[in-house]
Amino acid sequence: MPNAIMFVARKRTARRIGLALLLIALVSPSTRADEALYARRCAGCHSDASALAARLSGRTTADVTANLQQFLTHHHMDDVTERSRLAKWLATLSHKPL
Ligand code: HEC
Repeated sequence: MPNAIMFVARKRTARRIGLALLLIALVSPSTRADEALYARRCAGCHSDASALAARLSGRTTADVTANLQQFLTHHHMDDVTERSRLAKWLATLSHKPL
């Protein structure tokens, strides 16, 4: 490959890696805390969070969050703050459109 093309390709890759690292840095502290919350409160009965998330009802992430928050008011989650965090995290895992 000509040098100029290699240079552009490398620069683009470096920029992508930089962006990925930035996103990980931004996203991960709360994500890890939410994961830990799930592990503590839900995983005993639902071992696979992604599998559970894939079954959640709602057309968009916001719908899924609202439905799940409602469901969790009578399902093993009486803390309102934790309920809201978990619902948002699982809704994101469900990969519905925003
Ligand atoms: C003690 C066991 C137990 C715990 C803890 C538990 N669940 Fe469940 N969950 C169940 C069972 C059993 C069902 C299926 C029967 C039902 O709908 O109640 C279920 C159903 C669900 C459903 C309905 C979706 C489906 O697959 O039909 C969702 C969503 C859910 N749980 C989320 C959660 C979340 C989030 C947590 C953590 C806050 C949690 N559960 C904690 C036992 C549990």
